[in-house]
Amino acid sequence: MEEASVKEGSLGNKLLEAALWLRRAQQVVVFTGAGVSAESGIATFRDEGGLWARFPPERFAHVSGLLALLRDDPARLAEFCREVIAPIAEARPNPAHRAIAAFEAYIPVVVVTQNVDGLHQEAGSTHVHEIHGSLLAVRSVLGGVEHLRRQDLQEVSKNLRRATVQTSRRRLLWALRRLLGVSHWGPYRPDVVMFGEPLREPDWTLGRRAVHESDVLLVVGTSGLVMPAAELPSEARARGAKVIQIDPHPPDEPVLWLQGKAGEVLPALLQEAFGTSLNATELPFG
Ligand code: APR
Repeated sequence: MEEASVKEGSLGNKLLEAALWLRRAQQVVVFTGAGVSAESGIATFRDEGGLWARFPPERFAHVSGLLALLRDDPARLAEFCREVIAPIAEARPNPAHRAIAAFEAYIPVVVVTQNVDGLHQEAGSTHVHEIHGSLLAVRSVLGGVEHLRRQDLQEVSKNLRRATVQTSRRRLLWALRRLLGVSHWGPYRPDVVMFGEPLREPDWTLGRRAVHESDVLLVVGTSGLVMPAAELPSEARARGAKVIQIDPHPPDEPVLWLQGKAGEVLPALLQEAFGTSLNATELPFG
């Protein structure tokens, strides 16, 4: 669906209203979930065929579950790691990420994301709070954080492809050594927040403050099911902010719903609000 059809289709008036809100905004927060990266080839969690449908979160979203798998079923753990890491290692920003970055030329924008794929920063967004952490960083028990390049994840992904065939615990840990292990700075792990763990700081404190200070909140591609992040849209509304939600599925809250895929609706919103279209060099590859 091209930008034009998004504008002339059912979205028309709603797109105009959302564009007006953005043009008049003093502080915009874009709150994103897995849906904003779906068009970059990264599976969402709860859509049909999503990650949690294939890997139940009771085991795969908790540190204790992953450690039990490392002990009892390293092949299954290797399969999970491959399914998570490979798409992020190969992903590029899609038009949704690029439109969000382009807004910065016109209005103050802060991105608060639940995603760990680093695509907002790669698209050019300069104020990004990763409240669930990042797969492009490792954290040591001593508190140090080392940032990785996407190429590092591509190396891990290649190692995992080799390891999955006859996976032993040792081979799996060797394949994951760039993300998980012990070095001069002590044991380290991916800087990703697992279920039951505190949200990443200072991202959570700064991100929540930005939401409380925003007058427009743009919610993109999140099912709004995981606390405490899911409270942000209602906290923004309670403070009088206008809330726009971009998602193929209807929101539960009474907000301005722009139905559709982020990679189609956001470029149309950028065009409508500021007369700017993503140029040809920025559109998806292939
Ligand atoms: N464009 C916009 N939205 C989309 C698209 C798309 N192309 N494809 C799917 N969506 C929407 C779905 O309709 C759904 O509302 O994205 C949302 C994805 O929801 P989830 O899979 O639950 O992902 P998310 O909301 O980010 O999950 C939040 O849960 O498991 C934890 O830590 C994990 O950060 C994650 C958190």
